[in-house]
Amino acid sequence: MPLDGLLTALREAQHVCVLTGAGISAESGVPTFREAQSGLWEQYDPLDLATPEAFLRDPDLVWRWYRWRRELVAKAEPNPGHRALVSLAKLVPRFTLVTQNVDGLHQRAGSSDVIEFHGNLFADRCFVESCIIDEEQDSAGGVPVCPGCGGHLRPGVVWFGEAIPERALNDSFAAAADCDVFLSIGTSSLVYPAAGLAEIARNSGATVAEVNPDPTEHAAGFDHAFAAKAGTVLPEILKRMSET
Ligand code: OAD
Repeated sequence: MPLDGLLTALREAQHVCVLTGAGISAESGVPTFREAQSGLWEQYDPLDLATPEAFLRDPDLVWRWYRWRRELVAKAEPNPGHRALVSLAKLVPRFTLVTQNVDGLHQRAGSSDVIEFHGNLFADRCFVESCIIDEEQDSAGGVPVCPGCGGHLRPGVVWFGEAIPERALNDSFAAAADCDVFLSIGTSSLVYPAAGLAEIARNSGATVAEVNPDPTEHAAGFDHAFAAKAGTVLPEILKRMSET
């Protein structure tokens, strides 16, 4: 794998920013969204499950689907790709990890200060007041309610048509504009504003690289594109970085 150019940039970098998508968790057995056959949005219609309108229409159905995803993710373990990023963070002066994933696997691998661009699957949020409820509410398998206002609780993820949490948005845009190296890992780069981060980094002069076995339409414009799995490329980058 011709990693030399990227390794030189990484060794000189003051700030490395990484954006991950569902692909980095694929090797942990968590389904991605858009891949043919296995992608979640190939099997389910996001308009039935991942919009505020869907929740208003049928909160029970939405909760059943998210409980199924919680169980699936709870059984999954972080993989070598997640773990390599934990170690890489320690080898560079500044490291920002932005994830579109809601599975918490980066944190379980040991990454800290992860910017969760699309929220977290395991958080409960009041549909009425938007506050996060830390303590699990007993709902006997139905729709849990807010202990404060009695409104329905919803999963704390960002749904289609909803805004990205302000702090996550501001911090990621600032990191993309400031970094010297930007790595886009395991994302189809089809969903904005997350997909725009690489462009911000590139326009600010950063070296931009993609890791994806199925190169995206943006790859040709990046400095490096590695058509391989995150669980292979990231440990290799780490190994070579550790040798110097
Ligand atoms: P996608 O399912 O759109 O893309 C996953 C990408 O990972 C694809 O391009 C795959 O080729 C790639 N991939 C698969 N296995 C891989 C591996 N082992 N290593 C590296 N890459 C691999 O998922 P996202 O780009 O994350 O939003 O999707 C973005 C957003 O769309 C998600 O956060 C979600 C979804 O709707 C919300 O839920 C708000």
